[in-house]
Amino acid sequence: MILISLIFMNVFAITVSLLIIVADKVMSNYGSCKIIINDDKEFEVNGGTSLLRVLFERKYFIPSACGGKGTCGYCKLKVTDGGGPALPTEKLILSPREMSSGMRMACQLKVKNDLKIEIPSEYLEIQEYIGEISVSESVTSDINRIRIRLTDPKTIKYKPGQYVQIKVVTDEGTDFRAYSMASNPNRTDEIELNVKRIPDGIGSTYIHSLKVGDPIEFSGPYGDFYLQKTHRKIVCVAGGVGLAPLKSIVQYWKDNERHRRIELYYGARTIKDLYDHEFFEELARENENFLYIPGLSDPDEKWTGETGFIHQILERKMTEGENSEAYLCGPPIMIDAVMGVLDKGSISDDRIWFDKF
Ligand SMILES: Cc1cc2nc3c(=O)[nH]c(=O)nc-3n(C[C@H](O)[C@H](O)[C@H](O)COP(=O)(O)OP(=O)(O)OC[C@H]3O[C@@H](n4cnc5c(N)ncnc54)[C@H](O)[C@@H]3O)c2cc1C
Ligand code: FES
Repeated sequence: MILISLIFMNVFAITVSLLIIVADKVMSNYGSCKIIINDDKEFEVNGGTSLLRVLFERKYFIPSACGGKGTCGYCKLKVTDGGGPALPTEKLILSPREMSSGMRMACQLKVKNDLKIEIPSEYLEIQEYIGEISVSESVTSDINRIRIRLTDPKTIKYKPGQYVQIKVVTDEGTDFRAYSMASNPNRTDEIELNVKRIPDGIGSTYIHSLKVGDPIEFSGPYGDFYLQKTHRKIVCVAGGVGLAPLKSIVQYWKDNERHRRIELYYGARTIKDLYDHEFFEELARENENFLYIPGLSDPDEKWTGETGFIHQILERKMTEGENSEAYLCGPPIMIDAVMGVLDKGSISDDRIWFDKF
C-alpha cells in the first residue's frame, strides 16, 4: 500500500512539473511584437526577451553598465505605449516622477506586445568597435593599463570623461561592463583603459587576462560625465582607479584648454597605489596653470606629500570655488564626502559632474 502511494505521488509530481513547463512555454510564446522607435523606425521581434537585448541585437546601444543585472539604472528609456506597469525591480531604481513620465528599465522590461519607445538622439550615435590589445601592463598591484588599437572602424570620437562598454567573453556566454577611457580624445586610433581587478569579478578578470595581440570588442562612447566647454576653473577629484576619466580630461586640457586653471586631487591608500604619478608631477612642473595634489590615507615614513582622505585634503587645499566646476570619480563613499566639501566651497550642484564606481 505504501509502495503504491509513493508511486502515485511521484507520477503526480512529474505530471505537475511537465504541465508547468508546457504552460510556461505556451505563456511565454508572445509571438511577433513590433518595436516603434521615436515614431520613426520600427522592426518586428519574437517576444519573450528583454527590451535591452532586443535593442542590442538590432544595434541600438543603450547604456547598461551592470550588464542587465538591474542595479545600475543606466538603461532607463521612455516607453510611451505598451509597457504596462513597472516591475518591483524597477521600483527600486526609478523615482515616482520617472515612472509617471513612462520611464522604464530596458533590461527589466520583457517584450510581450508592441512597444513604442523613445531613444535619445545621443544614444543613436553609439557604435560597435573591434580592436586589438596593443599594451597590457600592471600599474599597481591590482590595476592594469590596457591600450586598444582600433581595427574596425579604425577611429573613435569621444569626449574626455566618457566610457565604453566592453564585451566580456566567458565560458557561460557574453556580458558587458563599463570602463572609462583614460586616453587623450585627440588620439582617435587607440583608447586606454585602467582596470582594477575585483576578486571573482567577471569583467575585470577577463580584461586582466588579455594579452598583446588579443582581439576585443566594445561599444561607445557613453555617458554625460565629460569636460564642459566653459571658461571656469576645473577641479578634478579622483579616488583610486577613478583617476581614469580624469586623466583623459587632464590630457585634453593640456592640448586644448590650457588657458583655464586645472587642479587634480588624487587620493590613494599607499604610494604603491598611486599610478601615473610621475606623469602628473612633470605636467605640473611644466604648466603653472596645473596644480597636482596627490594624497595618501596610509602613507609610509618616506611620503612627504599630503595625508588623509582626499575630501579632507581638498578641504585644506582647495582655492576659491566661485568660478569653478568640479569632476569627481571614485567609490560612492568618496564622492559623497567630496560633495559635502564642495558645497561649503561654493561650487553649486549644477557645476559638479561625477561617476561613481
Ligand atoms: C560609468 C562607469 C565607468 C567605469 N569605469 C571603470 C574604470 O575605468 N576602471 C575600473 O576598474 N572600473 C570601472 N567601472 C566599474 C566596472 O564597470 C565594473 O563594475 C568593475 O570592473 C567590476 O566588474 P566585474 O565584472 O569585475 O565584477 P562583477 O562580476 O560585476 O562583480 C563581482 C563581485 O564583486 C563585487 N564588486 C563589484 N565592483 C566592486 C568594487 N568596485 N569593489 C568591491 N567589490 C565589487 C560585486 O558586488 C560582486 O559581488 C566603471 C563603472 C561605471 C558605471
Ligand atoms: S543595465 Fe543596469 S539597470 Fe539595466
